[in-house]
Amino acid sequence: MKLLHIDTSILGQNSVSRQLTQIIVARVREAHPGIEVRYTDLGAEPLEHLSGAHLAAAQGTTPESAIILRDLERSRRALEDFLAADILVVGAPMYNFTISSQLKAWIDRICVAGKTFRYTDSGPQGLAAGKKVIVASSRGGFYGPQSPAAALEHQESYLRGVFGFLGITEVTFVRAEGVNISPDQRQAAISAARAEVAELAA
Ligand SMILES: Cc1cc2nc3c(=O)[nH]c(=O)nc-3n(C[C@H](O)[C@H](O)[C@H](O)COP(=O)(O)O)c2cc1C
Repeated sequence: MKLLHIDTSILGQNSVSRQLTQIIVARVREAHPGIEVRYTDLGAEPLEHLSGAHLAAAQGTTPESAIILRDLERSRRALEDFLAADILVVGAPMYNFTISSQLKAWIDRICVAGKTFRYTDSGPQGLAAGKKVIVASSRGGFYGPQSPAAALEHQESYLRGVFGFLGITEVTFVRAEGVNISPDQRQAAISAARAEVAELAA
C-alpha cells in the first residue's frame, strides 16, 4: 500500500496545513503499519508553471533549456507517484480564495488525457478511481454555505471537482477555518481539526 503526502503551503513552520498533513499521515500509518510513504514538498520545491515549452517538450521536441528538461522529469515523477498512490494526503491552504499556485501546478501535471482521464462518447471518464484523498484545508476566514464569503469558496469545491473528474469520489476534508480571525480562533480551529484526525477512519 502506498501513500503520497504533498505539502503546498508557502508559510513554512507557521503553516497550519503542514501541521495537519503531518498528523493525518501519522494516523494513516497507525492504521496501516508498513504503508510506504512518499513525501513531496511543493512549497519548498515548486514545479514550474505549465508552459508551451513544457508541453512541446512533453510531446517530443528537444527541450528548450535545462530548466524544462528538469521540470519534465519532475512532471513525469509527479504523475507516476500519483498513479501509484492508494492514499493521497494533500495540504491545501486557501490563498486568494483558491488553492496555492504550487498545488495548481501539481494538478496541471496529473490531469493528463489518456492517463488519468479520457473523453468518451458519453463524456469525460476519470481513470483514477479507487484512490482515497484526505485534504488538509486551512483558511484565514470562514467560507461555509451560510457565511457571507461563501461565494468566494474556490478551494475545497475546486479540489472535490478535480478529483471527481479524475474518478476519485472518496475525498475527505480535515478543515481548520478562521485561523486569521484571532489567536484563540486559530487555536480552536487547529484543535478541532486535530480531533477530526483522531476520528478518521483511515
Ligand atoms: C498569500 C496569502 C493569501 C491568502 N488568502 C486568503 C484568502 O483568500 N482567504 C482566507 O480566508 N485566508 C487567506 N489567507 C490566509 C490563509 O488561508 C491561512 O493563513 C492558512 O492557514 C493558510 O494555510 P497554511 O498556513 O498551511 O499556509 C491567505 C494567506 C496568504 C499567505
